[in-house]
Amino acid sequence: MTTVADEVLGVEAAHILQVYKRLPLVLVRGAGARVTDSDGREYIDLLSGIGVASLGHAHAGLARAIAAQAEELLHTSNLFFHPLQGQLAARLARLSGLPRAFFCNSGTEAVEACLKFARRYWHTTGDPRRTEIVALERSFHGRTFGSLSVTSGAPYRAPFAPLVPGVRFAAPDDPDALRRTVTSATAAVIVEPIQGEGGVWPLSGTMAETLTAVCEETGALLIADEIQCGLGRTGRPFHSATLGLRPDLMALGKALGGGVPVGAALLSERVAGAVAFGDHGSTYGGNLLACRAALVFIDALENGLTARVAEAGTRVERGLRQLAQKHAAVGEIRGAGLMWGMEVDGGVADRIVPAGLERGVIVNRTAGNVVRLLPPLTISDGDIDAGLARLGEALEDAS
Ligand SMILES: Cc1ncc(COP(=O)(O)O)c(C=O)c1O
Repeated sequence: MTTVADEVLGVEAAHILQVYKRLPLVLVRGAGARVTDSDGREYIDLLSGIGVASLGHAHAGLARAIAAQAEELLHTSNLFFHPLQGQLAARLARLSGLPRAFFCNSGTEAVEACLKFARRYWHTTGDPRRTEIVALERSFHGRTFGSLSVTSGAPYRAPFAPLVPGVRFAAPDDPDALRRTVTSATAAVIVEPIQGEGGVWPLSGTMAETLTAVCEETGALLIADEIQCGLGRTGRPFHSATLGLRPDLMALGKALGGGVPVGAALLSERVAGAVAFGDHGSTYGGNLLACRAALVFIDALENGLTARVAEAGTRVERGLRQLAQKHAAVGEIRGAGLMWGMEVDGGVADRIVPAGLERGVIVNRTAGNVVRLLPPLTISDGDIDAGLARLGEALEDAS
């Protein structure tokens, strides 16, 4: 008998561009931190679609807001005003301290926008040859040409060379190397306050201090890529603030729409003042659907969600450290709030994700040997405990 999964996998094999190595699982429904596949099996979702389903799956308030918006007006283009873009920008300004927003539809577009605005700043202020961008090794900022150019991994980059010129990489844990790399030719430095795809590496306090110092000394702008670690993920609105960084630009995406595609570049007034009409744009960017979803998310964030993440994060960290004590295959554990990476031995890394699915828990493997957890920000204590218990069983199976 042909199952729904067979049909889905079959039509994909015939017609979908094969750029994703998918797990053979067809997800059809969700509720909170749980998702159900086409065979009716339920999984505890400790990944939330790579940090996107921030309010959990099928969040009733988000669903109602999206439906109501669809019945009113979904899209106007940016040729006209609508009531929600300014509201969302003002809320983000309060949270971030960056007073202006440009809206787009994904993380990579938010990074592209930040890079363009940084270049534009020096062009406008009379230093058009100041074009270099400094990024960190182990970085991931996206897959379009600009963001790919500041992403360090060779496998992402090599097939698409030549990339945007003038990008220099510094070691993520070497303050002296950073000092040598950022110069008066640097337009901007871009960093993830916690590197995500690279293996969940929080930027150290010393690196953050050096970053602030070199940007001050050289005048280079600072771009914080908060796409994965921002918007409450660490139990604070933005991890750059936790580190004492004062970015001139910030890239947002993922959690912002709770599953509705929306990205944003936030700018200081100084940088925003250098950008002119027509410099950048997006047909969809900041449409009513995206803004309405993001406003629901920001409402939740400002009404106790960040505090809840901090509490839930302590529970997850404690659980992961217990797993590390029990399982010889587990190495270093890194992260904050509800963003965690757990190093495991190579063989276990190969098997842990399918072993997790067998046990009914979704986790992700990144940077070769890191098991990554990015659960919904709303995950309950019960689902944390049950999810980690299943992860423990999967570790046993995979060892
Ligand atoms: C830190 C960071 N920046 C940028 C991106 C790119 O975002 P998107 O996949 O929405 O284009 C990602 C995605 O994983 C990310 O983690």
